Amino acid sequence: MNKENSNNIGIAGTGFYIPERILTNFDLEKIVDTTDEWIRTRTGIEERRTASDEEATSDLAAKAGEKALKDADINPKEIDLLIIATHFPDHHFPSTACITQHKLGMKNAVCFDLSAACTGSIYSLYVAESLMKNSNYKTAMIIGTEIFSRTVDWQDRNTCILFGDGAGAIILKKGQKEKSIISFDFGSDGSNADLIKIPAGGSRLPPTINTIRNKQHYIQMEGKKVYRFAKKMMVHSVNKALEKAELSRKDIDLLIPHQANIRILKAVAKKLHLPLEKIMINLQKYGNTSAASIPIALDEAISEGKIKEGDIVVLTAFGAGLTWGEIVIRW
Ligand code: UT7
Repeated sequence: MNKENSNNIGIAGTGFYIPERILTNFDLEKIVDTTDEWIRTRTGIEERRTASDEEATSDLAAKAGEKALKDADINPKEIDLLIIATHFPDHHFPSTACITQHKLGMKNAVCFDLSAACTGSIYSLYVAESLMKNSNYKTAMIIGTEIFSRTVDWQDRNTCILFGDGAGAIILKKGQKEKSIISFDFGSDGSNADLIKIPAGGSRLPPTINTIRNKQHYIQMEGKKVYRFAKKMMVHSVNKALEKAELSRKDIDLLIPHQANIRILKAVAKKLHLPLEKIMINLQKYGNTSAASIPIALDEAISEGKIKEGDIVVLTAFGAGLTWGEIVIRW
């Protein structure tokens, strides 16, 4: 569906927060059997951030949300809807969205968490936009927020080198035609749910001494299979979303992909015939921050002057589930 004509909901503000503590590849050399050279050449990542012991997922979210409110010049009480995407909430319940709502004084917001792993912020953006279209909600905030440093096994070099902590927020406002979603493409494939998972801690394997001993509360991933899926699905889905907007890949001014691996991004750029200058890349600084990755990259792209009025900006993500999603925005 091309939604361009009916659209009057636009992005009114963005903001992100990353914890101060920096963990470089050289620091990782002292923890696991790896090298800066291996990590840089295989992933593009040079350093990532880790939250302080006092920080929980909602703390990162609140700091990103505060910046987005300032950017949009909006009073917290104006927010009608808050969706938080995260793989590691403060608690199983209440939702991290409710906790963040209280921290930010967003008294009038309806709040819930959304689980779609690295695709979470894009899913949230589209869910928020759709809910706004079918309700009297005028202003919504979505936040992707992650603390990976507590769910990776620091003895597993396959995963601990990849991820970083951070949060990014986006505010949507009704009555704004510019910076609006003009098309989308989303999908899920539960038959590959085992490719990235945290096996224990839920109803399938509640926490026991054994689940802790067996390290089943940490992320497990079949990296190579996820890599192949990401390369293929991102290209396919970007093309589908563009087609729905009656655009072609030549119309893309900036592609903002989920910051997982530079090799994935380069392969996607090649397949889409996009020069690297048209791809937002900041994974060297933050690693893979999952649901936070796209809101952080979007905010940085804006502040670095990479987006101008009228540009076609495409957001593209993939992640556990498996899930994927693409959103085309006319800026
Ligand atoms: O947000 C979604 C989350 N997931 C992803 O984005 C993951 C997508 N996948 C990837 O990014 C890549 O598959 C990885 C970066 C995870 C791995 O890169 P790869 O080129 O697929 O490497 P590999 O797993 O095939 O491993 C190649 C070699 C292996 O050694 P052998 O078997 O060839 O002797 C690994 O044991 O590299 C070894 N290796 C490492 N060596 C040094 C794996 N991790 C490391 C490491 N340092 N950190």
